[in-house]
Amino acid sequence: MRIVLGVGGGIAAYKAASLLRLFTEAGHDVTVIPTEAASRFVGVATWEALSGHPVTSSVFDEVPTVNHVRLGHEAELIVVAPATADLLARAATGQAGDLLGTTLLMARGPVLMAPAMHTEMWRHPATQANVETLRSRGITVLEPASGRLTGADSGPGRLPEPEAIFEAALALAGAPAVPGTLPASASFPVPSAFPPPSASQPLAGFTVTISAGGTREPLDPVRFLGNRSSGKQGVALAIAARDAGARVRLLAAHMEVPAPDGVELVEVETALELRKAALHAAADSDVVIMAAAVADFRPADVSGTKIKKRDGVADPVISLVRNPDILQELVEVRDAASRHQLIVGFAAETGDAEGDVLEYAAAKLRRKACDLLVVNHVGQGKVFGQDSNSVVILSRSGSEPQEAAGSKADVAAAVLDRISAELSRVVPPA
Ligand code: CTP
Repeated sequence: MRIVLGVGGGIAAYKAASLLRLFTEAGHDVTVIPTEAASRFVGVATWEALSGHPVTSSVFDEVPTVNHVRLGHEAELIVVAPATADLLARAATGQAGDLLGTTLLMARGPVLMAPAMHTEMWRHPATQANVETLRSRGITVLEPASGRLTGADSGPGRLPEPEAIFEAALALAGAPAVPGTLPASASFPVPSAFPPPSASQPLAGFTVTISAGGTREPLDPVRFLGNRSSGKQGVALAIAARDAGARVRLLAAHMEVPAPDGVELVEVETALELRKAALHAAADSDVVIMAAAVADFRPADVSGTKIKKRDGVADPVISLVRNPDILQELVEVRDAASRHQLIVGFAAETGDAEGDVLEYAAAKLRRKACDLLVVNHVGQGKVFGQDSNSVVILSRSGSEPQEAAGSKADVAAAVLDRISAELSRVVPPA
C-alpha cells in the first residue's frame, strides 16, 4: 500500500521513525513528508534512509513530477504523526503553504492524525474546534495518550505508541495489521523443525529465498522500462539450493526460463512488488539471495492509457523516481531485529575510468552491508542471457575473494558452497 507519513514539528517526531519502520517492515511503500519544523527534530537524511524515497517539505522540489498533487492523489493512506496543534489548525483551515498541506488537500484515501502536544494546548477550545472540524470531514483524529510530556508536566497530550498508531491506521485502510502479511495467495507455510544437515544435503532444514529475473517498471498499459536479466542465474541457484535440501522460495521478476519444480514460486512485476515479497519472505528465511536485477528507477507517472504520438504536440519526456534499495533494506531490517540470517547480494559492474570492477564491488559491499556479494563483470555480451558466467565472491567476514566460473549451474554450486560455509557462522545450529 502507498502510504504518506506526515510528520509535524514536535519532540515526538523521533517516534515517527519507529512508526515508519513498522509500515516498511510490513511491506508498505512510505513517502515521508515532514514539516519544516519537523526537520529541526529529525533530519531529512533519516527519513530518506528509512523510507528509501527522497524527502522534502517544499512544493518547489521535484516539480516535474507535480509532487504536491501526485503524493496526495496516489496515497492509499495518509498518517500524520505527531500532529501538533499548529498542524491540526492548518489542516482544519485547508492551508496549502507546504507539501504536507497540499498533500492533505489532495487526499483521496483515508487520513489519520495522531496528535501530540501539551495538555493545555490539546484542551484549548481552538484546538478542540479544529479537531471537531477535521473529524466532521471524515478525518480520523486519535485521542492523545496520557503520561509524561516533554517537560516535568504530565497529562493527556502524549503521542500514542507507534504500534497503536500503526494498528489504527491499517485498520482504517482495511489492511491486515500483522507485519509482513501478504494476500493469502502469496503466503508461505510455517517451516517444520529442522532435520539435521547431512553432507549431501548441507542446507536441509534451512529456508532460502532467492530473487531472480529483472523487474519491469510500467510506463503505460503496453510499455515498460526493463533490463536484460534472463533469470538463468537465479534459477540455477534455486535448483542448487533445492538439491542441497533447502526449502526454496523463488521471487520471480520476469524470467526467460521456467521456474524449477519443488520451489515455492512468487511472481512479481515491479521493484515495489519485489520489495514487498522479499520483506515478507525474509521474515522467516535463513538465507536471502538477491540475484534479481532490480530497476533503480521507475517512471514517476504511469499512464492509464497508451501514450500516443501526436503531430504538433511535444514528444513526451519520462521522469523517473528512485526505487527503494531492497537489499539494503533487508540488511537493515535483519539488523534491527537482531535476526540470524545470511544475506547475499549480486553486483553487476562494468568498471570505468574511475575504478575497476572489484573496486566498485568492494565499495558496494561496504555500502549495502550484506554478508556476501557475488560480482559479475557485465558488458560486451557477457552474463545477461548467456549460459555461462564468471564471478568473484566477496565476503564481509574478511575472507579472501573467491573466483568461480563455468556454467551458471557451476557458479550456483560455488555460491551455495560458500553460503553453507558461512551459514554455520551466522545461523546457530537448531
Ligand atoms: N538491488 C536491490 N534494490 C535495488 C537495486 C539493486 O535490492 N533497488 C540489489 C540487486 O538485487 C543486487 C544488488 O542490489 O543484489 C546490487 O545491484 P546493482 O544493480 O549492481 O547495484 P545498484 O545498487 O543498483 O548500484 P549501481 O547501479 O549504482 O551500481
